Amino acid sequence: MKKLLISIFMLLPLLCHAEDLQSPDGNLKLTFSLTTNGQPAYQLTYKDKPVVATSTLGLQLVGGNDLMSGFIQTDCRRTSFDETWQPVWGEESEIRNHYNEMAVTLNQRATDRTMILRFRLYDDGLGFRYEFPQQKKLVYFVVKEEKTQFAMPADNKAWWIPGDYDTQEYSYTESKLSEIRTLMPGVVKAHAGNSSSTTFSDGGVQTALQMKTPDGLYVNIHEAALVDYSCMHLNYIKETNTFESWLTPDAQGNKGHLQTPCQSPWRTVMVTDDARKTLASRLILNLNEPCKLEDTSWIKPVKYIGVWWDMITGAGSWHYTNDFPSVKLDLTDYVHATPNGSHRANNDTVRRYIDFAAANGFDQVLVEGWNIGWEDWANNSKDKVFDFVTPYPDFDVDALNNYAHSKGVRLMMHHETSSSVRNYERHIDKAYKFMVDHGYNSVKSGYVGNIIPRGEYHYGQWMVDHYLYCVKKAAEYHIMVNAHEAVRPTGLCRTYPNLIGNESAKGTEYEAFSGNNPDHTTILPFTRLQGGPMDYTPGILETQIYTRVKGARFVNSTLARQLALYVTMYSPLQMAADVPNSYEHYADAFQFIKDVAVDWQKSLYLEAEPGDYITIARKEKGGDRWFIGCTVDEVGHQSTLKLDFLDKGRKYTATFYADAPGAHYEKNPKAYTITKKTVTAKSIVQLSAAPGGGYAISLVPVE
Ligand code: NOJ
Ligand code: CA
Repeated sequence: MKKLLISIFMLLPLLCHAEDLQSPDGNLKLTFSLTTNGQPAYQLTYKDKPVVATSTLGLQLVGGNDLMSGFIQTDCRRTSFDETWQPVWGEESEIRNHYNEMAVTLNQRATDRTMILRFRLYDDGLGFRYEFPQQKKLVYFVVKEEKTQFAMPADNKAWWIPGDYDTQEYSYTESKLSEIRTLMPGVVKAHAGNSSSTTFSDGGVQTALQMKTPDGLYVNIHEAALVDYSCMHLNYIKETNTFESWLTPDAQGNKGHLQTPCQSPWRTVMVTDDARKTLASRLILNLNEPCKLEDTSWIKPVKYIGVWWDMITGAGSWHYTNDFPSVKLDLTDYVHATPNGSHRANNDTVRRYIDFAAANGFDQVLVEGWNIGWEDWANNSKDKVFDFVTPYPDFDVDALNNYAHSKGVRLMMHHETSSSVRNYERHIDKAYKFMVDHGYNSVKSGYVGNIIPRGEYHYGQWMVDHYLYCVKKAAEYHIMVNAHEAVRPTGLCRTYPNLIGNESAKGTEYEAFSGNNPDHTTILPFTRLQGGPMDYTPGILETQIYTRVKGARFVNSTLARQLALYVTMYSPLQMAADVPNSYEHYADAFQFIKDVAVDWQKSLYLEAEPGDYITIARKEKGGDRWFIGCTVDEVGHQSTLKLDFLDKGRKYTATFYADAPGAHYEKNPKAYTITKKTVTAKSIVQLSAAPGGGYAISLVPVE
């Protein structure tokens, strides 16, 4: 009895006032409470199983006067919302946004400052944020640290990458939470460009963090609508099995400069009992504001090739000459320089790519290294590095664009900023105008290296503001943006659908540097892709590559899996990343890349387990074809797929692009088979994916 009393006593003082909220289906339950010292707290259950144990909330401010405790509740409002909206592009043509909401108004009596905690419960998760209304006693404030806790009730399994203020380009580690701190020091920094990427603590991880509880629940912590605030990491406190928010600092070590009225991004906890439902979740998009662009008719999904892989593998160069570092942004320097012979963005090569794109139905051709400044673009912390408008002498911008347009193809612009962000903002209007004047409508931008202004980080508030500034400005010029090395996305593409892609994770380029783990693409859709599409750049069919850095090596994937990624790695922007010669060589397999759609009416998640396998079927928008992709880890996988999603009574020609018997990502990656058969909604097909392999299927109705 004494024991029982003590444990009740230990629980009770924490909770003095409680408010409850349920998800529309009643499975998720949130309890909000104030502790005895007036600190906000919450807990979350799914079908009565604990998902987040009682966790406290609040913010520490620079100069003291924290927003942590001493609150009383002055109001609590509940509402419900149910609407279906149509994304400009997406995994499906309609998205349901259905939630119950509770907004709790709190007043800190000693300072008379007001803060609202807004909670939204969906059937597949929770979103909550801090809101700071306009008020006399709270106008300007500087965040020292946000103290949002996520107390984990069990030693969950997690797929994580270490905390870093500058990059997400890491391989995932699969471990128990209790092992994070032990494994962390062994995690090698991967990023090619950043010399001073910072791991903030030996226990921090990045979001989206995917976990699986011992009860078999899939729990994912991330954030939505990261606007004018710094990016959140999670510090893992082993003693209490708790994650705590850890914001990215600015150059002065502060974590955010705010002025009321304002709010934090949404903190999200997605919960499902089936990994397939995690992939089907639209929680992050739904928590973002509806589209703010009035006219979106100019935004179109893009399938593209690029003058790129040759440079990534080290055969070609971005820079035009080896003669000198570019001392100033002046074309006359280059006109007298000796070409190095390996500059790929030259008229002949680009014409060859334009011809190839036109012949094979691609929309665009990316050309990197077209503009002056690449001789000393990285690692010098050089402020005035590119001007974004002056082509090298061997790149005739007018002639090449005219040639492309005459063939129904566009060139894709490339703006590597080398993180001299001040320099980019100085030039951005001219640069975008230059694009419009020459008929470009999409830009791949990049942020390799340390940020200028020096001391800022890729994920700080200043940079978060910069990325959005570019996206909004680009929209004024009807330009679509695909930003590499930018902060990982948080669903802002709903509000600004001209943000058609981001990198913000280890992409295919790492196959040329160090190799991606064979299970990498079975994890990314659970983590990085929750916030928005990734320009993963799949399609390396010549899986045996020669790189200047590593010599001969294989891409860590079978050839068939490279095709599957066009379906499993959702993006409205898909690159066929290999060189035209490879596609000509593997023309039968290349057919899938030519055929596959980039915009979808419907997506069905047929099989999924993070770190093991993902199989997705998608129906194209505006047509009746279906495409299926499966990507698996180093173990391999057998699938039995029911095709009952096909139209009843209709016949389809199914083309199977599969790993051949004996295929293996390391030992035999190029063994593939292509077979055709007629199938219907009654068909059940058996498929086998090799270790590090996968398969792709196209299903075309027989009229
Ligand atoms: C890194 C990007 O991810 C890659 O795609 C690009 O080619 C280089 N930066 C150069 O901008
Ligand atoms: Ca695995």
